Amino acid sequence: MADRVYIFDTTLRDGEQAPGFSMTTEEKLQMAHQLARLGVDIIEAGFAIASKGDFEAVNRIAKEVKGPVICSLARALEQDIEVAAKALEPAERKRIHTFIATSEIHMKYKLRMDPNQVLERAVSAVRFARRFTDDVEFSCEDATRSDRDFMFKVIEEVIKAGATVINIPDTVGYAVPEEFAQLIEDIVNNVPNIDKVILSVHCHDDLGMAVANSLMAVKHGARQVECTVNGIGERAGNAALEEIVMALKVRKDFFGGLETNINTKELYKTSRLLCRITGSFVPPNKAVVGDNAFAHESGIHQHGVLSHRLTYEIMNPEDVGFPPSRRIVLGKHSGRHAIKKKLEELGVSYTQEDLERIYSKLKDLADKKKDIYDEDVEALVYQEFMKIEEEEPVKVIHFQVQSGDNLMPTATVKILFKGEERTATATGNGPVDATINALKNALGIKPKLLDYSIKALTPNTDAQAEARVVLDLEGVRASGRGVDTDIIKASVSAFVDALNRALMRKEYILQREKIRQQGTV
Ligand code: KIV
Ligand code: ZN
Repeated sequence: MADRVYIFDTTLRDGEQAPGFSMTTEEKLQMAHQLARLGVDIIEAGFAIASKGDFEAVNRIAKEVKGPVICSLARALEQDIEVAAKALEPAERKRIHTFIATSEIHMKYKLRMDPNQVLERAVSAVRFARRFTDDVEFSCEDATRSDRDFMFKVIEEVIKAGATVINIPDTVGYAVPEEFAQLIEDIVNNVPNIDKVILSVHCHDDLGMAVANSLMAVKHGARQVECTVNGIGERAGNAALEEIVMALKVRKDFFGGLETNINTKELYKTSRLLCRITGSFVPPNKAVVGDNAFAHESGIHQHGVLSHRLTYEIMNPEDVGFPPSRRIVLGKHSGRHAIKKKLEELGVSYTQEDLERIYSKLKDLADKKKDIYDEDVEALVYQEFMKIEEEEPVKVIHFQVQSGDNLMPTATVKILFKGEERTATATGNGPVDATINALKNALGIKPKLLDYSIKALTPNTDAQAEARVVLDLEGVRASGRGVDTDIIKASVSAFVDALNRALMRKEYILQREKIRQQGTV
């Protein structure tokens, strides 16, 4: 049994699959580079056959990201495996992850296959995948609701067929820690060739036990944990990478000294990068990376921590890369160095050209506001790097608003929607409402606004405002973000950002659905 735990990151596959978390190829690449810096062992870069976008993302990550093993998911179908192998071709180290459900309910109602057919399909898929790489992972989907003896048989046979990693997913987040630990122990004791592979777990968080289940599995023999940054993923999400890693580090005594390859100082940065890319922020009380994770409010706690940090802190904030508090970083005449430092701090890959572009924007901002804070530089960097890029269906050309204490707020907008120029006017309760209404009129579609918030990033009335929008477009949820010294501009950017993500996600879901209908899953 390996004496360390392999971290398999599936943020870009299972995480990205969740509503509101879709990413463009460029964004996935940024994230993958950061995951490599974080030190994950395996990056599951996507489900290559699911869509053109998935294929491209897996392929570019395979080409450009060095260090971790790059993996693509594939159903237990030759066509899926072939496409995964093709996407992974440029990778230095590649893994094909193939899966099929082994629970009665999935076999009967979803696959419409009997257990013998499933066993045969699993074995032939693994054998086929081994033609392309000697690193093949097999997952028994819905393992925790599968008949044990049948699943043990499947595992034994796929190992004989060449699987090198066996993954046990709690697909529907049904397991409880003691029971899951027992399942892992039973696999270790009943599958005769299990010592030939790495045993892995993949837990969902429907009952809030994904991290606990994963950790108990490690305690009982699992040596790979599949997880996502901030715990994003289908429904309630997957096990949170940062929580798994810090639990193993802080409670090394309990977990038998097992180590991971993770550079924990990169955890906060990785979490923030994902938040900025997806526009979905973690709650302030989120373990390890939440804004309040190391904040001590009560007098007793503050006194305790000041006397001796360990009275109320089990982790050192610096160990997870928690940033020092807000500070003024530069005035009008300094800049490149601060931007460079910020780009490096945030884990963003950049060229000299990017640096110059951001520097020129920073100078424009310095003309508008007196002091530039750390948060301003960060917002600018994210704005420049986290844009959806060329394919944006909606672009704002121009907008104008009239408002005052005796005026009905009225806005006019001119936009490009899928290449067509459109203009519209509307009134509203306030200038932001009027502008959003005008946008909706111009678009001819009516997304439902689920959430809208705006806050100043720094003190003073000349501060930049950060607007966040969550909307629903015919059942597709997406979030967006905009930053500007003008609150209406920030709001419009956030709305359009969310709308573009929703439109692109709709397109992506359509494509994925088409593929699904052709297969068995
Ligand atoms: O949750 C699950 O079962 C999965 C598998 C494809 C590993 O994501
Ligand atoms: Zn999953």
